[in-house]
Amino acid sequence: MHLNFYHSKLITIIIIALLSMAALIFIFLNPPANEKNNNCHQINLPYQNPTLSIDQRVTDLMNRMTVAEKIGQMVLIEKNSLHDINDITQYNLGALLSGGGAGPTQDTPLAWLKMISEFQSAAKNTCLGIPLLYGIDAIHGHGNVLGATIFPHSIGLGATRDADLVKRVAKATAEEMAATGIYWNFAPNLDVAKDIRWGKTYETFGSDTANVAKLGLAYLEGMQNSSDGYFKVLANPKHFIGGGNMEYGTSRNPQFKVEEGNITINEKTLRQVHLVPFQKAIASGARVIMVGTASWQGKINSDNYHILTEILKNELGFSGFIVSDWYGVYQIETSKYNSLVRAINAGIDMVMTPFEYQEFIANLQEALANGDIAEERLNGAVKRILTVKFETGLFDRPEATPEGLSIIGNATHRELAREAVRKSQVLLKNKNSVLPLSKSANTIIIAGSSADNLGRQAGGWTTEWQGIDGNYGISGTTIFEAIKDTVSNDTDVEYNQQGDFSDGSKLADVGIVVVGEKPYAEGWGDIANPSLSPEDLSAIEKVKAKSKKIVIILVSGRPLNIKEYSKNWDAIIAAWLPGSEGQGVADVLFGDFSFTGTLPIVWERY
Ligand code: GLC
Repeated sequence: MHLNFYHSKLITIIIIALLSMAALIFIFLNPPANEKNNNCHQINLPYQNPTLSIDQRVTDLMNRMTVAEKIGQMVLIEKNSLHDINDITQYNLGALLSGGGAGPTQDTPLAWLKMISEFQSAAKNTCLGIPLLYGIDAIHGHGNVLGATIFPHSIGLGATRDADLVKRVAKATAEEMAATGIYWNFAPNLDVAKDIRWGKTYETFGSDTANVAKLGLAYLEGMQNSSDGYFKVLANPKHFIGGGNMEYGTSRNPQFKVEEGNITINEKTLRQVHLVPFQKAIASGARVIMVGTASWQGKINSDNYHILTEILKNELGFSGFIVSDWYGVYQIETSKYNSLVRAINAGIDMVMTPFEYQEFIANLQEALANGDIAEERLNGAVKRILTVKFETGLFDRPEATPEGLSIIGNATHRELAREAVRKSQVLLKNKNSVLPLSKSANTIIIAGSSADNLGRQAGGWTTEWQGIDGNYGISGTTIFEAIKDTVSNDTDVEYNQQGDFSDGSKLADVGIVVVGEKPYAEGWGDIANPSLSPEDLSAIEKVKAKSKKIVIILVSGRPLNIKEYSKNWDAIIAAWLPGSEGQGVADVLFGDFSFTGTLPIVWERY
């Protein structure tokens, strides 16, 4: 009897023990979303000590992190997707971005600084106080911020082929960004633009791999280098890999033609044309690389283990972190859960969702719990991200202050932008050497959609994602204003956008028609035949009839098909998207500086 009694008691104890162990294992593998870290808000910990090595600091920090805190480091959220700023604290969010134009309600540098500071405070209220990485597309200056210097877009910088200039432009951009507390720039674009029908062409340095590699490297160095041992601003080469070579008409997005399209070239060509700029960038300190939304041979880049892990991480030894591009991960397949698992296992370390962070967190927790994503993969990604955060000085640098805001749009930066504008101008045609123009001509008539329009000069990613068509929201000098400011006081300068001038008896000495493209960004700029609008062509004809000679200035993000119209144009200048400092165009138009720009991209017919 006794034996039976003890026998059954023992069995009961064993069963309870086994159930308890099972419960513990389940809890460990299924931590509650807000599992509490018991050691919060401590100070003087090793990871907070800047005298220790970054490896030591990362190791110490990771040893203190819960799974929930680690997951929060792997998600990148667009700031307008936050339901509540306190979600940053509650969900341990590690990274935010401003999508194009997504700024504070009042678009002033001070309001930007305050907005970023509030986000950072919410991050520092988390248990371990890990600072946010805040990213933005400052791809031609801190273009979202009213008053910032707007530099020429990269296609124009590509025409300069001047690495030192590009480095200085990047440095000035970093200075204006850092003044607002933003230390992550989604630039340089290292795509090699092979099809001018692609809307992102102007974001690239052109179609010449060697020039793209040279200028991309210069940009990265200018953006990141600083004297205090941390990156001034983190550069972010993009869009790995093959951007610029998508086949026209293959976009996954029915609204686009090229963006999010399919690249069909073989791996040998992919490496020769598109890998070289990234190789050089990695060798020179690139620490974040953004994967594009394109597909290569039918496989979405965010789902491609071969290019992300085997080539980028293993073959090239890239030890920074890979971030996906806007919602690109969730285009892998219908199931968001499966898409996320595939992307992270392919090599994506941080996911620009950019919207649903709770869903991301729940999916990642489930994937870890059931083994679809290994904890080793989680730790590998978080280690890369935290390492870059420490390298960027986020844990150590003092907060930006309002006193530093005066650098934004200052005279030195605008003079640099003017230098970049004049060095980017390409003289396509100069019949009978009509250029340079005389500053003491009797009469100059000016027309065209882009003559007195800062928004068209600046192009996309300026104040708004798609840019603006007009003179609001940007501070700078239009090409028309620059011409007026350059010629003598005795020169009669008349302007009419449509080219409607009084039927005077005398012909103007010269007619200048500044024409080109409306602002656009990304897929919205995909177009079958980049050319001139009927309005601009009409303005050209009217001015031609009233001038002794005619000069056409093209303000565009890419070559335009003008061959059928240009026969009777005396001079043609490719101005690209010069940005806020239109004076740089007048500098070469009137001969204060020579034309030095050369085509960065094949211009079939002009
Ligand atoms: C966009 C672009 C990418 C940009 C990112 C964040 O869709 O593809 O170049 O950096 O989203 O705005």
